[in-house]
Amino acid sequence: MARVAIVTGGTRGIGEAISLALRDAGVAVAANYAGNEERARAFTEKTGIRSYKWDVADYDACHKGVEQVEAELGPVDIVVNNAGITRDGTLLKMTYQDWKDVMDTNLGGCFNMAKSTFPGMRARGWGRIVNIGSINGQAGQYGQVNYAAAKSGIHGFTKALAQEGAKSGVTVNAIAPGYIDTDMVAAVPQDVLAKIVAKIPVGRLGHAEEIARGVVFLCGEEAGFVTGSTLSINGGQHMY
Ligand code: CAA
Repeated sequence: MARVAIVTGGTRGIGEAISLALRDAGVAVAANYAGNEERARAFTEKTGIRSYKWDVADYDACHKGVEQVEAELGPVDIVVNNAGITRDGTLLKMTYQDWKDVMDTNLGGCFNMAKSTFPGMRARGWGRIVNIGSINGQAGQYGQVNYAAAKSGIHGFTKALAQEGAKSGVTVNAIAPGYIDTDMVAAVPQDVLAKIVAKIPVGRLGHAEEIARGVVFLCGEEAGFVTGSTLSINGGQHMY
C-alpha cells in the first residue's frame, strides 16, 4: 500500500511542489492549508490531491486534521512541516503579535504535527518527518528576529526529535531553503531582493521543485540512515 504523507502549507509555493513530487513518487498525499480556500480548491482541481484545512498553530486542530486524513487515506507515514509565514520588521517596529504568530506557526506547527503523528510512526516502526527550515534560521536576516528564531528553532527541534525516532525507524531531517521564487519572496521589496540575489553565487532565485527533490530523497525508503541532518539548498548563498 502507498505511504501516506501530510504536507503542511501544501497547496501553494514550496509546499505545492512538495505535494506534487511526493505524489509522483507514489505517495498518497494530503495537502494541508490554513486560509487560502481559492488556491486550495484550484490546487485540488488541477492535481487531484486532496486538500485539508486547519491551522498548524492550533494544537487541537492538528489532532483533528490528522484524524480526518487517517480516516480517509490511512495511517500517516510522512509529515513535511512546510507551513510558514513572515511578519518582517525591525525589532523596534515588530509587535508582540508579529513575534507570536511566526513562532506559533513556523515552530509551534512542527511540535503540533509531530505530537499528532510521531507516536503512530514509532509504533509502526517507520516514519519520515521533514521540517522546512531556512537559510535565515542558519545565518540570521535583518528584519526577521521572529522568523530567524523560529527557523533556527526548527533545526534544533529536528536534531532532538531525530534522536527519539532513530531506534524505531523514524527519521527526522530538515531542509534549509535559500531564496526561492515564491509569493513569500516576491513580497520582499524589489530593491532589497535585488541586493540579496546579487549575493547568491548561482546567480538566481531557487525553484520550489529544487526543494521538493530534496524532500523526496529524505522521505525515500533508501534514506533510512539519514537522520538529524540539514540539507541546505540555497544556490551557495550560505555554506554551512
Ligand atoms: N543590514 C544592515 N542595515 C540594514 C540592512 C541590513 N541588511 N537592511 C536595511 N538596513 C538599514 C537601512 O540601510 C536603513 O538605515 P538608515 O535608516 O540609516 O537609512 C535601516 O536599516 C532601515 O531599513 P529599511 O528601510 O529596510 O527599514 P524598513 O523598516 O522600511 O524595512 C524590513 C525593514 C521590512 C525588514 C525590510 O528591510 C525588508 O523587508 N527586508 C527583507 C527581509 C527579508 O529578507 N525577508 C525574507 C522574506 S522571504 C523568507 O523569509 C523565505 C526564506 O526562508 C528565505
